[in-house]
Amino acid sequence: MKSRVLRHVWATLTSAASLLLALAIPLRLVQFREVLPWETVAEWIITGLFSLDIVLRFVRPATAGETASSGMRISQYGGWKLAADILAALPVRLLFPGSPFELLRLLKLFRTGEFFQQIQRRSVKHWGILRLGFFLVWFVIVIHWLTCGWLSMQGMGAGQELVSSYILALYWCISTLSSVGYGDVIPTNTGERIYAIGVMMVGVGMYSYIIGNVATILTGIQPARTRYLENMDRLSAFMRYRRIPSGLQRKILDYFSYAWDRMLGYDESRVISELPPSLTSEVSLFLKRDIIEKVPFLKGASEELVRDIALEMRPVVFTPGDYVFRAGEPGGEMFFINHGRLEVLAKDGVTIFTTLTDGDFFGEIALVLDTPRTASIRALEYCDLYALNKDAFDTILRRYPDFKAHVNQMTKERQERGM
Ligand code: CMP
Repeated sequence: MKSRVLRHVWATLTSAASLLLALAIPLRLVQFREVLPWETVAEWIITGLFSLDIVLRFVRPATAGETASSGMRISQYGGWKLAADILAALPVRLLFPGSPFELLRLLKLFRTGEFFQQIQRRSVKHWGILRLGFFLVWFVIVIHWLTCGWLSMQGMGAGQELVSSYILALYWCISTLSSVGYGDVIPTNTGERIYAIGVMMVGVGMYSYIIGNVATILTGIQPARTRYLENMDRLSAFMRYRRIPSGLQRKILDYFSYAWDRMLGYDESRVISELPPSLTSEVSLFLKRDIIEKVPFLKGASEELVRDIALEMRPVVFTPGDYVFRAGEPGGEMFFINHGRLEVLAKDGVTIFTTLTDGDFFGEIALVLDTPRTASIRALEYCDLYALNKDAFDTILRRYPDFKAHVNQMTKERQERGM
Protein backbone atom coordinates (compact mmCIF):
# COMPACT_ATOMS: atom_id res chain seq x y z
CA MET A 1 0.00 0.00 0.00
CA LYS A 2 2.73 2.39 1.08
CA SER A 3 4.94 1.43 -1.85
CA ARG A 4 2.01 2.09 -4.19
CA VAL A 5 1.71 5.63 -2.86
CA LEU A 6 5.47 6.15 -3.26
CA ARG A 7 5.27 4.80 -6.79
CA HIS A 8 2.49 7.25 -7.58
CA VAL A 9 4.43 10.17 -6.12
CA TRP A 10 7.47 9.17 -8.14
CA ALA A 11 5.50 8.79 -11.38
CA THR A 12 3.84 12.17 -10.75
CA LEU A 13 7.24 13.78 -10.27
CA THR A 14 8.77 12.34 -13.46
CA SER A 15 5.59 13.14 -15.43
CA ALA A 16 5.66 16.74 -14.18
CA ALA A 17 9.34 16.99 -15.23
CA SER A 18 8.62 15.61 -18.69
CA LEU A 19 5.64 17.96 -19.19
CA LEU A 20 7.81 20.88 -18.10
CA LEU A 21 10.44 19.85 -20.65
CA ALA A 22 7.73 19.53 -23.30
CA LEU A 23 6.97 23.22 -22.76
CA ALA A 24 10.52 24.48 -22.16
CA ILE A 25 12.59 22.71 -24.84
CA PRO A 26 10.72 23.91 -27.97
CA LEU A 27 10.63 27.45 -26.55
CA ARG A 28 14.36 27.41 -25.79
CA LEU A 29 15.12 26.11 -29.27
CA VAL A 30 13.39 29.04 -30.93
CA GLN A 31 15.18 31.51 -28.68
CA PHE A 32 18.72 30.42 -29.67
CA ARG A 33 20.22 31.76 -26.48
CA GLU A 34 23.01 30.75 -24.13
CA VAL A 35 22.38 28.21 -21.38
CA LEU A 36 21.80 30.10 -18.12
CA PRO A 37 23.46 28.83 -14.89
CA TRP A 38 20.16 27.82 -13.25
CA GLU A 39 19.24 25.91 -16.39
CA THR A 40 22.41 23.84 -16.05
CA VAL A 41 21.37 22.90 -12.52
CA ALA A 42 17.81 22.07 -13.66
CA GLU A 43 19.23 20.02 -16.53
CA TRP A 44 21.31 17.90 -14.14
CA ILE A 45 18.42 17.45 -11.72
CA ILE A 46 16.17 16.18 -14.51
CA THR A 47 18.95 13.92 -15.83
CA GLY A 48 19.33 12.50 -12.31
CA LEU A 49 15.56 12.04 -11.99
CA PHE A 50 15.19 10.24 -15.34
CA SER A 51 18.29 8.06 -14.72
CA LEU A 52 17.00 7.02 -11.31
CA ASP A 53 13.68 6.22 -12.96
CA ILE A 54 15.46 3.75 -15.28
CA VAL A 55 17.19 2.09 -12.32
CA LEU A 56 13.91 1.84 -10.39
CA ARG A 57 12.16 0.23 -13.35
CA PHE A 58 14.84 -2.49 -13.31
CA VAL A 59 14.74 -3.19 -9.60
CA ARG A 60 11.14 -2.92 -8.52
CA PRO A 61 8.59 -5.68 -9.16
CA ALA A 62 5.70 -4.94 -11.52
CA THR A 63 2.21 -4.39 -10.21
CA ALA A 64 -0.64 -6.22 -11.87
CA GLY A 65 -1.85 -2.96 -13.46
CA GLU A 66 1.54 -2.14 -14.93
CA THR A 67 2.04 -5.62 -16.25
CA ALA A 68 -1.30 -5.40 -17.98
CA SER A 69 -0.76 -1.87 -19.25
CA SER A 70 2.70 -2.29 -20.66
CA GLY A 71 2.21 -5.90 -21.64
CA MET A 72 5.58 -6.86 -20.17
CA ARG A 73 7.13 -7.79 -16.86
CA ILE A 74 9.76 -5.50 -15.42
CA SER A 75 12.29 -8.28 -15.66
CA GLN A 76 11.80 -7.95 -19.42
CA TYR A 77 12.28 -4.17 -19.28
CA GLY A 78 14.28 -3.36 -22.38
CA GLY A 79 13.76 -2.82 -26.10
CA TRP A 80 12.51 0.50 -27.38
CA LYS A 81 11.12 1.52 -24.02
CA LEU A 82 14.54 1.30 -22.41
CA ALA A 83 16.14 3.04 -25.40
CA ALA A 84 13.58 5.87 -25.18
CA ASP A 85 14.14 6.22 -21.42
CA ILE A 86 17.94 6.40 -21.91
CA LEU A 87 17.75 8.98 -24.70
CA ALA A 88 15.38 11.09 -22.58
CA ALA A 89 17.83 10.97 -19.68
CA LEU A 90 20.79 12.38 -21.65
CA PRO A 91 21.67 16.01 -20.76
CA VAL A 92 21.75 16.94 -24.49
CA ARG A 93 21.54 20.68 -23.90
CA LEU A 94 24.76 20.62 -21.90
CA LEU A 95 26.53 18.50 -24.55
CA PHE A 96 25.19 20.23 -27.70
CA PRO A 97 23.57 23.54 -26.67
CA GLY A 98 20.78 24.68 -28.99
CA SER A 99 20.76 21.51 -31.13
CA PRO A 100 17.42 19.93 -32.14
CA PHE A 101 18.67 16.69 -30.50
CA GLU A 102 17.31 18.22 -27.31
CA LEU A 103 13.89 17.10 -28.52
CA LEU A 104 14.96 13.53 -27.74
CA ARG A 105 14.17 14.30 -24.11
CA LEU A 106 10.52 14.52 -25.05
CA LEU A 107 10.52 10.73 -25.53
CA LYS A 108 9.80 10.63 -21.80
CA LEU A 109 6.30 11.80 -22.65
CA PHE A 110 5.44 8.20 -23.60
CA ARG A 111 5.88 7.36 -19.92
CA THR A 112 3.64 10.26 -18.97
CA GLY A 113 1.00 8.94 -21.36
CA GLU A 114 1.30 5.50 -19.77
CA PHE A 115 0.94 7.01 -16.30
CA PHE A 116 -2.18 8.97 -17.33
CA GLN A 117 -3.74 5.79 -18.72
CA GLN A 118 -2.94 3.92 -15.54
CA ILE A 119 -4.60 6.59 -13.39
CA GLN A 120 -7.64 6.63 -15.64
CA ARG A 121 -8.00 2.85 -15.50
CA ARG A 122 -7.83 2.76 -11.73
CA SER A 123 -10.09 5.69 -11.01
CA VAL A 124 -13.35 4.33 -12.33
CA LYS A 125 -15.39 6.94 -10.49
CA HIS A 126 -13.68 10.02 -11.97
CA TRP A 127 -12.84 8.43 -15.29
CA GLY A 128 -14.64 11.05 -17.42
CA ILE A 129 -13.18 14.08 -15.62
CA LEU A 130 -9.67 12.61 -15.76
CA ARG A 131 -9.95 11.85 -19.45
CA LEU A 132 -11.10 15.42 -20.10
CA GLY A 133 -8.25 16.80 -17.93
CA PHE A 134 -5.55 14.71 -19.64
CA PHE A 135 -6.96 15.57 -23.03
CA LEU A 136 -6.62 19.28 -22.18
CA VAL A 137 -2.99 18.76 -21.10
CA TRP A 138 -2.11 17.17 -24.48
CA PHE A 139 -4.13 19.82 -26.29
CA VAL A 140 -2.16 22.65 -24.64
CA ILE A 141 1.14 20.92 -25.41
CA VAL A 142 0.32 20.38 -29.09
CA ILE A 143 -0.77 24.02 -29.49
CA HIS A 144 2.44 25.14 -27.77
CA TRP A 145 4.55 23.03 -30.13
CA LEU A 146 2.76 24.37 -33.20
CA THR A 147 3.18 27.92 -31.89
CA CYS A 148 6.91 27.36 -31.33
CA GLY A 149 7.18 25.89 -34.86
CA TRP A 150 5.61 29.03 -36.35
CA LEU A 151 7.81 31.23 -34.17
CA SER A 152 10.92 29.45 -35.41
CA MET A 153 9.89 30.07 -39.03
CA GLN A 154 8.99 33.70 -38.47
CA GLY A 155 11.88 34.43 -36.16
CA MET A 156 11.57 37.13 -33.57
CA GLY A 157 11.46 40.54 -35.23
CA ALA A 158 14.20 43.01 -34.25
CA GLY A 159 13.60 44.40 -30.79
CA GLN A 160 10.54 42.21 -30.31
CA GLU A 161 10.11 40.67 -26.92
CA LEU A 162 9.66 36.91 -26.59
CA VAL A 163 6.27 37.42 -24.96
CA SER A 164 4.78 39.57 -27.70
CA SER A 165 6.24 37.35 -30.47
CA TYR A 166 4.90 34.26 -28.73
CA ILE A 167 1.44 35.76 -28.33
CA LEU A 168 1.35 36.74 -32.01
CA ALA A 169 2.40 33.20 -33.00
CA LEU A 170 -0.16 31.69 -30.61
CA TYR A 171 -2.83 33.95 -32.10
CA TRP A 172 -1.93 32.75 -35.62
CA CYS A 173 -1.81 29.16 -34.48
CA ILE A 174 -5.20 29.12 -32.75
CA SER A 175 -6.93 31.04 -35.53
CA THR A 176 -5.45 28.66 -38.13
CA LEU A 177 -6.35 25.58 -36.09
CA SER A 178 -9.90 26.68 -35.36
CA SER A 179 -10.71 28.19 -38.76
CA VAL A 180 -8.33 29.08 -41.55
CA GLY A 181 -7.12 32.25 -39.85
CA TYR A 182 -8.16 35.86 -40.29
CA GLY A 183 -5.62 36.73 -42.93
CA ASP A 184 -3.91 39.38 -40.80
CA VAL A 185 -0.89 37.14 -40.14
CA ILE A 186 -0.12 35.22 -43.31
CA PRO A 187 2.52 32.75 -44.50
CA THR A 188 4.87 34.56 -46.86
CA ASN A 189 7.04 31.81 -48.37
CA THR A 190 6.68 28.20 -49.47
CA GLY A 191 8.00 26.73 -46.20
CA GLU A 192 5.52 28.78 -44.16
CA ARG A 193 2.67 27.91 -46.49
CA ILE A 194 3.43 24.19 -46.17
CA TYR A 195 3.56 24.61 -42.40
CA ALA A 196 0.21 26.45 -42.45
CA ILE A 197 -1.35 23.62 -44.50
CA GLY A 198 -0.06 21.14 -41.90
CA VAL A 199 -1.51 23.19 -39.02
CA MET A 200 -4.89 23.45 -40.78
CA MET A 201 -4.96 19.69 -41.23
CA VAL A 202 -4.05 19.15 -37.58
CA GLY A 203 -6.88 21.56 -36.76
CA VAL A 204 -9.39 19.45 -38.70
CA GLY A 205 -8.16 16.31 -36.94
CA MET A 206 -8.33 17.99 -33.53
CA TYR A 207 -11.84 19.22 -34.13
CA SER A 208 -13.10 15.80 -35.14
CA TYR A 209 -11.42 14.36 -32.06
CA ILE A 210 -12.95 16.98 -29.76
CA ILE A 211 -16.43 16.66 -31.23
CA GLY A 212 -16.22 12.87 -31.19
CA ASN A 213 -14.88 12.64 -27.65
CA VAL A 214 -16.16 15.48 -25.53
CA ALA A 215 -19.79 14.34 -25.76
CA THR A 216 -18.75 10.79 -24.82
CA ILE A 217 -16.59 12.11 -21.99
CA LEU A 218 -19.33 14.34 -20.62
CA THR A 219 -21.92 11.54 -20.62
CA GLY A 220 -19.24 9.23 -19.22
CA ILE A 221 -18.72 11.49 -16.20
CA GLN A 222 -21.88 10.12 -14.57
CA PRO A 223 -22.55 6.85 -16.35
CA ALA A 224 -24.80 5.47 -13.61
CA ARG A 225 -26.92 8.62 -13.50
CA THR A 226 -27.25 8.70 -17.29
CA ARG A 227 -28.33 5.05 -17.30
CA TYR A 228 -30.78 5.71 -14.47
CA LEU A 229 -32.41 8.65 -16.29
CA GLU A 230 -32.66 6.63 -19.51
CA ASN A 231 -34.31 3.76 -17.63
CA MET A 232 -36.77 6.14 -15.97
CA ASP A 233 -37.68 7.63 -19.36
CA ARG A 234 -38.25 4.19 -20.85
CA LEU A 235 -40.23 3.08 -17.82
CA SER A 236 -42.49 6.16 -17.87
CA ALA A 237 -43.17 5.66 -21.58
CA PHE A 238 -43.97 1.98 -21.00
CA MET A 239 -46.32 2.71 -18.08
CA ARG A 240 -48.20 5.33 -20.10
CA TYR A 241 -48.44 2.97 -23.07
CA ARG A 242 -49.82 0.13 -20.92
CA ARG A 243 -52.13 2.57 -19.10
CA ILE A 244 -50.88 1.59 -15.65
CA PRO A 245 -52.95 3.42 -12.97
CA SER A 246 -51.31 6.67 -11.90
CA GLY A 247 -51.07 5.60 -8.23
CA LEU A 248 -49.14 2.50 -9.21
CA GLN A 249 -47.00 4.52 -11.63
CA ARG A 250 -46.03 6.86 -8.81
CA LYS A 251 -45.21 3.88 -6.59
CA ILE A 252 -42.95 2.37 -9.25
CA LEU A 253 -41.15 5.65 -9.91
CA ASP A 254 -40.76 6.23 -6.14
CA TYR A 255 -39.21 2.81 -5.82
CA PHE A 256 -36.63 3.49 -8.54
CA SER A 257 -35.79 6.87 -7.07
CA TYR A 258 -35.30 5.18 -3.66
CA ALA A 259 -33.12 2.47 -5.24
CA TRP A 260 -31.07 5.21 -6.92
CA ASP A 261 -30.58 7.13 -3.66
CA ARG A 262 -29.59 4.03 -1.74
CA MET A 263 -27.46 2.18 -4.27
CA LEU A 264 -26.85 4.58 -7.17
CA GLY A 265 -28.93 2.28 -9.31
CA TYR A 266 -26.50 -0.61 -9.05
CA ASP A 267 -27.91 -4.06 -8.61
CA GLU A 268 -25.81 -5.51 -5.79
CA SER A 269 -26.45 -9.16 -6.71
CA ARG A 270 -25.52 -8.59 -10.34
CA VAL A 271 -22.33 -6.71 -9.53
CA ILE A 272 -21.28 -9.47 -7.13
CA SER A 273 -22.18 -12.27 -9.54
CA GLU A 274 -19.78 -10.83 -12.13
CA LEU A 275 -16.80 -11.19 -9.80
CA PRO A 276 -14.50 -14.24 -9.63
CA PRO A 277 -15.40 -16.68 -6.78
CA SER A 278 -12.60 -15.59 -4.43
CA LEU A 279 -13.69 -11.96 -4.64
CA THR A 280 -17.38 -12.86 -4.43
CA SER A 281 -17.11 -14.13 -0.88
CA GLU A 282 -14.83 -11.27 0.20
CA VAL A 283 -17.13 -8.59 -1.23
CA SER A 284 -20.31 -10.28 0.09
CA LEU A 285 -18.74 -10.44 3.50
CA PHE A 286 -17.72 -6.78 3.37
CA LEU A 287 -21.16 -5.60 2.22
CA LYS A 288 -23.06 -7.70 4.73
CA ARG A 289 -20.68 -7.63 7.68
CA ASP A 290 -22.41 -4.63 9.29
CA ILE A 291 -25.81 -6.23 9.20
CA ILE A 292 -24.49 -9.64 10.25
CA GLU A 293 -22.77 -8.05 13.23
CA LYS A 294 -26.00 -6.31 14.23
CA VAL A 295 -27.96 -9.58 14.33
CA PRO A 296 -27.90 -10.80 17.95
CA PHE A 297 -27.96 -14.50 17.17
CA LEU A 298 -24.94 -14.15 14.92
CA LYS A 299 -22.86 -12.27 17.51
CA GLY A 300 -19.71 -14.22 18.25
CA ALA A 301 -20.31 -16.61 15.33
CA SER A 302 -17.17 -17.95 13.67
CA GLU A 303 -15.69 -16.19 10.63
CA GLU A 304 -16.49 -19.25 8.53
CA LEU A 305 -20.15 -19.28 9.53
CA VAL A 306 -20.50 -15.55 8.88
CA ARG A 307 -18.88 -15.99 5.45
CA ASP A 308 -21.24 -18.87 4.56
CA ILE A 309 -24.30 -16.86 5.56
CA ALA A 310 -23.08 -13.73 3.74
CA LEU A 311 -22.67 -15.69 0.52
CA GLU A 312 -26.26 -16.91 0.63
CA MET A 313 -27.94 -13.62 1.58
CA ARG A 314 -29.84 -11.99 -1.29
CA PRO A 315 -30.84 -8.30 -1.17
CA VAL A 316 -34.56 -7.50 -1.50
CA VAL A 317 -36.44 -4.21 -1.22
CA PHE A 318 -40.00 -3.66 0.04
CA THR A 319 -41.96 -0.46 -0.46
CA PRO A 320 -44.08 1.18 2.28
CA GLY A 321 -47.23 -0.82 3.05
CA ASP A 322 -45.98 -4.02 1.37
CA TYR A 323 -46.49 -7.33 3.15
CA VAL A 324 -43.29 -9.38 3.18
CA PHE A 325 -45.57 -12.33 3.95
CA ARG A 326 -48.83 -12.98 5.77
CA ALA A 327 -49.60 -15.18 8.78
CA GLY A 328 -50.48 -18.75 7.79
CA GLU A 329 -48.47 -18.79 4.56
CA PRO A 330 -45.79 -21.48 4.17
CA GLY A 331 -42.33 -20.14 4.92
CA GLY A 332 -39.44 -20.45 2.49
CA GLU A 333 -37.09 -17.66 3.64
CA MET A 334 -35.94 -15.74 6.65
CA PHE A 335 -34.96 -12.07 6.52
CA PHE A 336 -32.39 -9.71 8.02
CA ILE A 337 -33.18 -5.99 8.13
CA ASN A 338 -30.42 -3.88 6.66
CA HIS A 339 -32.39 -0.66 6.71
CA GLY A 340 -36.01 0.30 7.43
CA ARG A 341 -38.88 -0.42 9.85
CA LEU A 342 -41.43 -3.25 9.66
CA GLU A 343 -44.25 -4.27 11.97
CA VAL A 344 -45.10 -7.76 13.15
CA LEU A 345 -48.90 -8.24 13.01
CA ALA A 346 -50.92 -10.98 14.66
CA LYS A 347 -53.14 -13.29 12.61
CA ASP A 348 -56.09 -10.87 13.09
CA GLY A 349 -54.15 -8.32 11.04
CA VAL A 350 -54.76 -5.60 13.65
CA THR A 351 -52.75 -6.44 16.77
CA ILE A 352 -49.18 -5.25 16.47
CA PHE A 353 -46.74 -7.52 18.31
CA THR A 354 -43.76 -5.29 17.77
CA THR A 355 -41.85 -3.13 15.30
CA LEU A 356 -38.59 -4.42 13.90
CA THR A 357 -35.77 -2.26 12.61
CA ASP A 358 -32.13 -2.23 11.41
CA GLY A 359 -30.28 -5.34 12.55
CA ASP A 360 -33.43 -7.30 13.50
CA PHE A 361 -34.39 -10.53 11.77
CA PHE A 362 -37.68 -12.37 11.24
CA GLY A 363 -39.20 -15.37 9.52
CA GLU A 364 -36.98 -17.91 11.25
CA ILE A 365 -39.78 -19.73 13.16
CA ALA A 366 -41.35 -21.25 10.04
CA LEU A 367 -37.94 -22.46 8.91
CA VAL A 368 -36.81 -23.91 12.21
CA LEU A 369 -40.10 -25.55 13.18
CA ASP A 370 -41.35 -26.24 9.66
CA THR A 371 -44.66 -24.54 10.39
CA PRO A 372 -46.71 -21.85 8.59
CA ARG A 373 -45.90 -18.21 9.34
CA THR A 374 -46.91 -17.31 12.88
CA ALA A 375 -47.41 -13.60 12.07
CA SER A 376 -47.62 -11.14 9.18
CA ILE A 377 -44.82 -8.70 8.44
CA ARG A 378 -45.57 -5.31 6.86
CA ALA A 379 -43.09 -2.64 5.76
CA LEU A 380 -43.69 0.78 7.31
CA GLU A 381 -41.22 2.52 4.96
CA TYR A 382 -38.78 1.55 2.23
CA CYS A 383 -36.94 -1.48 3.60
CA ASP A 384 -33.68 -3.05 2.47
CA LEU A 385 -33.64 -6.65 3.59
CA TYR A 386 -31.43 -9.62 3.02
CA ALA A 387 -33.23 -12.91 2.44
CA LEU A 388 -31.81 -16.32 3.30
CA ASN A 389 -33.70 -19.22 1.76
CA LYS A 390 -34.70 -22.41 3.59
CA ASP A 391 -32.26 -24.72 1.80
CA ALA A 392 -29.29 -22.48 2.55
CA PHE A 393 -30.51 -22.02 6.12
CA ASP A 394 -30.86 -25.79 6.66
CA THR A 395 -27.44 -26.48 5.16
CA ILE A 396 -25.89 -23.92 7.49
CA LEU A 397 -27.67 -25.38 10.55
CA ARG A 398 -26.48 -28.85 9.60
CA ARG A 399 -22.91 -27.64 9.16
CA TYR A 400 -22.82 -25.69 12.45
CA PRO A 401 -24.57 -27.66 15.28
CA ASP A 402 -23.71 -25.06 17.97
CA PHE A 403 -25.31 -22.40 15.89
CA LYS A 404 -28.36 -24.63 15.41
CA ALA A 405 -28.79 -24.98 19.17
CA HIS A 406 -28.51 -21.22 19.58
CA VAL A 407 -31.14 -20.53 16.89
CA ASN A 408 -33.53 -23.08 18.39
CA GLN A 409 -33.20 -21.44 21.77
CA MET A 410 -33.91 -17.95 20.42
CA THR A 411 -36.83 -19.19 18.34
CA LYS A 412 -38.39 -20.80 21.38
CA GLU A 413 -38.07 -17.62 23.41
CA ARG A 414 -39.60 -15.48 20.67
CA GLN A 415 -42.42 -17.92 20.12
CA GLU A 416 -43.28 -17.95 23.84
CA ARG A 417 -43.19 -14.15 23.93
CA GLY A 418 -45.31 -13.71 20.81
CA MET A 419 -48.08 -16.18 21.33
P1 CMP B 1 -42.28 -16.81 11.17
O1 CMP B 1 -43.28 -17.51 11.99
O2 CMP B 1 -41.51 -17.59 10.20
O3 CMP B 1 -42.97 -15.58 10.44
C1 CMP B 1 -43.44 -14.49 11.22
C2 CMP B 1 -42.27 -13.97 11.97
O4 CMP B 1 -42.51 -12.91 12.85
C3 CMP B 1 -41.74 -15.05 12.89
O5 CMP B 1 -41.22 -16.08 12.14
C4 CMP B 1 -40.82 -14.30 13.76
O6 CMP B 1 -39.58 -14.10 13.16
C5 CMP B 1 -41.53 -12.97 13.85
N1 CMP B 1 -42.25 -12.84 15.14
C6 CMP B 1 -43.31 -13.54 15.57
N2 CMP B 1 -43.68 -13.11 16.79
C7 CMP B 1 -42.81 -12.16 17.15
C8 CMP B 1 -42.64 -11.32 18.28
N3 CMP B 1 -43.46 -11.38 19.31
N4 CMP B 1 -41.62 -10.45 18.29
C9 CMP B 1 -40.80 -10.35 17.26
N5 CMP B 1 -40.90 -11.09 16.16
C10 CMP B 1 -41.89 -12.00 16.10
